[in-house]
Amino acid sequence: MNFEIPEAVKTWSQFGHPIIMWILLGTAVYALYLGIQIQRTRSADKEHRKELIKKNFNSRHHQVGSILLALMVLGTIGGMAVTYINNGKLFFGPHLLVGLGMTGIIATAASLVPFMQKGNVFARYTHIALNLVLLGLFGWQAVTGMQIVQRIISKM
Ligand code: HEM
Ligand code: HEM
Repeated sequence: MNFEIPEAVKTWSQFGHPIIMWILLGTAVYALYLGIQIQRTRSADKEHRKELIKKNFNSRHHQVGSILLALMVLGTIGGMAVTYINNGKLFFGPHLLVGLGMTGIIATAASLVPFMQKGNVFARYTHIALNLVLLGLFGWQAVTGMQIVQRIISKM
């Protein structure tokens, strides 16, 4: 039996990935905010520190980071799947390569968590540096991604 995906589903599915990725960009900025609050908590004086600890920035950041990790991996796979379904191939260009690179970066940043929790300073700074690079690349992905969206719309 030969199963064909309906043309309308193929076309409209191309907008799922960009929408998810814009939401993820906002989530990543929120993760940065929470990360900065973790740093503020660590460096605050004793009295102020007690107040900040109550706000649970550490576990909130960990939760948001975990969601970000899962959705970025799935969103990348989804983007590649939809591109292949619609074009019969992938486009070996900057958006594909930077996207795969970002997925590697976020996985590596997350893998450092057990070491950071043991107080390893090198792991902590590497986590921060990797994620700042990630945010920079995300901005670039948004630009190249919107160029692809415009191309898709102009072909509709
Ligand atoms: C946009 C992405 C992210 C940014 C900008 C970011 C940034 C930061 C920053 C600035 C800190 C504070 C480091 C310090 O204590 O001085 C931090 C800590 C932490 N991050 Fe992230 N992070 C991101 C993603 C993630 C992800 C994906 C995970 C895990 C799934 C994660 C888990 C953690 C944990 C558990 C800590 C606290 C570690 C500890 O106990 O010291 N983060 N992050
Ligand atoms: C706001 C940001 C983004 C927008 C607007 C966007 C938009 C798009 C669009 C329209 C496509 C083509 C889908 C199709 O032809 O059906 C695409 C493909 C893709 N996207 Fe994104 N994207 C964004 C962010 C990201 C991010 C953050 C990643 C990875 C971390 C990523 C990874 C990919 C990959 C791997 C493909 C397949 C590329 C190819 O083979 O040509 N994108 N994206």
